[in-house]
Amino acid sequence: MRSKRILIGITGGIAAYKIPILVRLLVKAGFEVKCVLTPNASDFVSPLVLSTLSLHPVESRLVSKDNVWNNHVELAEWCDLFVVAPLTANTLAKMATGICDNLLLSIYFSMKGKTLVAPAMDLDMYAHPTVVRNIEILEKDGVRILPAEYGELASGLVGQGRMIEPEKLFEDIQDFLKKKSNLSGEKVLLTAGPTYENIDPVRFIGNYSSGKMGFALAQSFLNAGCQVLLISGPTSMKLDHPNLTRIDVISADEMMEEVKNHWKEQNIGIFAAAVADYKPKNLENQKIKKKNEELELVLVKNPDILGWAGSVKDEQFLVGFALETNNGVENALLKLKSKNLDCIVLNSTEDSGAGFAHDTNKVTILDKKMTKTTLSLKSKYEIADEIVDFVIESLSKKV
Ligand code: PMT
Repeated sequence: MRSKRILIGITGGIAAYKIPILVRLLVKAGFEVKCVLTPNASDFVSPLVLSTLSLHPVESRLVSKDNVWNNHVELAEWCDLFVVAPLTANTLAKMATGICDNLLLSIYFSMKGKTLVAPAMDLDMYAHPTVVRNIEILEKDGVRILPAEYGELASGLVGQGRMIEPEKLFEDIQDFLKKKSNLSGEKVLLTAGPTYENIDPVRFIGNYSSGKMGFALAQSFLNAGCQVLLISGPTSMKLDHPNLTRIDVISADEMMEEVKNHWKEQNIGIFAAAVADYKPKNLENQKIKKKNEELELVLVKNPDILGWAGSVKDEQFLVGFALETNNGVENALLKLKSKNLDCIVLNSTEDSGAGFAHDTNKVTILDKKMTKTTLSLKSKYEIADEIVDFVIESLSKKV
């Protein structure tokens, strides 16, 4: 087997001086490493040091001094992982907006594999709304963010903005590649978003689910190398990936039908959709007219999609979600048992920033062995990554 290939993109920030240590650690661990620099990065780290440690020439221009074209597409295809560290606010903004004016950026926009970034900047820059927004854009584009840490900064100030230490970056690169190979090729069925239950041609019963949690999970499982089948209720969320198949549905009945069609051939099921428990008994063909003071709507139970998947599952690993308003753990454990799940992810409307429509969530994962893993309030992308880690961990114990 050939060794894994890491391409390190270094931008012009003071934390660039730490990258030779990362290169050394990676080469010592058996990785093949190449480095590319933005034009300003060589003010902060010597290309000679990098080429000596990486055992490869270091590139920074689209056309080299002796008029040879550095093929960014070849470099993008060469690597298993592109690591941009440190990532300055300037390169971050260009990555978020599609500006492609140097070799490093041309590689980023040619990448088919995964990009991992370690931002580093002064605390006020890191907290600036534009930077926060650009980081969110990269996250949505499927880039793995290794958030900056709190500590002393080059300016002498203390705050969040320090690039994570090279030793930690080295560990994260190894973990990322391990995770990818552990789940590589696994088939994952995911439900996401709300369901709409029609009352008449212009009205429905629905809920506030945005699809953000389910789509973040889809992104994380795709990052881990899985084939993802995403069955989604109505949402404005978008996601493109060669290993993604997306089926859009409206109602619980439609979601049930698609799950029934595909569940058997999956290895893992993650049910993050907020499915309406009830639907109107009768669907009116015409818009209901405003006549009386009161209108009675008779509702009947929808199929329990997750319950069905649990009742027919064999070796498949099944994860449910529980959105609770009270007695969270108690109710989630009842669902874990009654739906024959391997684990359940509890989120509560009692926690601010958690549940419907937020970009963040706060969850507790409960499993069959009664272990309880509580995650603090984080972006839904980070929560999704932790759920993927939990699945990997649980599957490794199952074998
Ligand atoms: O989409 P977002 O805005 O990002 O919000 C995310 C979320 C809050 C929707 C998500 O984190 C979440 O909690 N999803 C499950 C919400 C829910 O409907 O929970 P529940 O406790 O009612 O259902 C329990 C489980 O059974 C869920 O996995 C649900 O998908 C499943 N279910 C429920 C009813 C039904 N008829 N069929 C089902 O499959």
